Amino acid sequence: MKFVISVLVGFLVVTISSAVYVDRFDQIEAAKKSNDKVIVIRNLQVPAGVLLDLQNLKPGTTLQFEGRVTFGYKEWKGPMVRISGKNIIVEGKPGHLIDGEGARWWDGLGGAGGKTKPTFIELKLDDSIVRNLHVKNTPVQMFTSSFCNNLLITNVNLDNEDGKSKGRNTDGFAVGLSKNVTVQNSRVYNQDDCFCCGAGSDIKFINNVCIGGNGISIGSMGNNRVVERVEARHCQVIDSFNGIRIKTRKNDKALVKDVTFDDITLKDIQQRGVIVHGNYPSWRPTDDPTDGCPIKNLVINNVRGTVKAGGANTWIWLANGVASGWKVSNVNVSGGKLKLPCKGLPAGIDKNFQERCGQI
Ligand SMILES: *[C@@H]1O[C@H](CO)[C@@H](O)[C@H](O)[C@H]1NC(C)=O
Ligand SMILES: *[C@@H]1O[C@H](CO)[C@@H](O)[C@H](O)[C@H]1NC(C)=O
Repeated sequence: MKFVISVLVGFLVVTISSAVYVDRFDQIEAAKKSNDKVIVIRNLQVPAGVLLDLQNLKPGTTLQFEGRVTFGYKEWKGPMVRISGKNIIVEGKPGHLIDGEGARWWDGLGGAGGKTKPTFIELKLDDSIVRNLHVKNTPVQMFTSSFCNNLLITNVNLDNEDGKSKGRNTDGFAVGLSKNVTVQNSRVYNQDDCFCCGAGSDIKFINNVCIGGNGISIGSMGNNRVVERVEARHCQVIDSFNGIRIKTRKNDKALVKDVTFDDITLKDIQQRGVIVHGNYPSWRPTDDPTDGCPIKNLVINNVRGTVKAGGANTWIWLANGVASGWKVSNVNVSGGKLKLPCKGLPAGIDKNFQERCGQI
């Protein structure tokens, strides 16, 4: 599958090697071993219940998706696709689609029961770029980046709009145990967190649109994990369960430091516009938060928009001393009529913000 054109000009040999195409599943291993720098996954049908194994790509590989990539149906845990390597470009060609055809698994129960549903794409990439991908209708979790360093994800469209009534736990971009990962200029239409980060540092979520899901989230924090230097900026969260959120598990330990939410527009949020709570998995003031996860130097600036009448605009529910060094400014989230008591706001926080929380 390799075409080499060698041009001899005096003593100079110029070698132009073309791409290797994979349109049958049994061609993958050979493609990974070949010396072509470009691997094109083209109109591939992945058999049921097996991994599309794009791991350990040679450094410098460009992995392209072309046409429609589909998967057989089986109840299993997945992931359906794994991509790993260093100095890799992963990109979609115009018109391509990676189609999970998730409706075959969707039963309204997500990861909590019913059919066993495979997670979809997992990345473990260093010094790499992922761009221009179009992913549709995944059974559950869409796009997970774990143990990644220096990764840029740009212009990736995660579209589970068809899962509106039956898709669940279809988290969009999950980033964990990673350093220096940026997700930008992307769009997620799903039924769980649009973006979540449960461990890592120097993680950015910039200029993205989130529709239908559960907003932009840090956590759930526990297990002594650390999240530091995370920024979400210039994003819209539309028609979603929550807007922006930090959740830490009750009776567990972790650390959240230097998180910034800046220039976030919320629209038609159903439950909480801004929520920071230390009693996860509860998301109501029914039980007390615990103090094992300090939340230091949180910045919430220029967060504005609307919550539906049945929800609460802002809700902070933390044990005393957990929050420190917060800066809250220009927050105007309105429309929610539910007044929830707040707890554990640090001293000196914006007065309007405190009042919107309601009183204990
Ligand atoms: C962070 O990752 C990007 C690629 O997304 C890279 O260009 C940049 O140099 C990295 N920054 C550091 C400090 O390593
Ligand atoms: C807050 O936003 C609402 C509409 O979303 C607007 O009517 C109100 O004037 C804004 N308040 C401030 C202080 O900007």
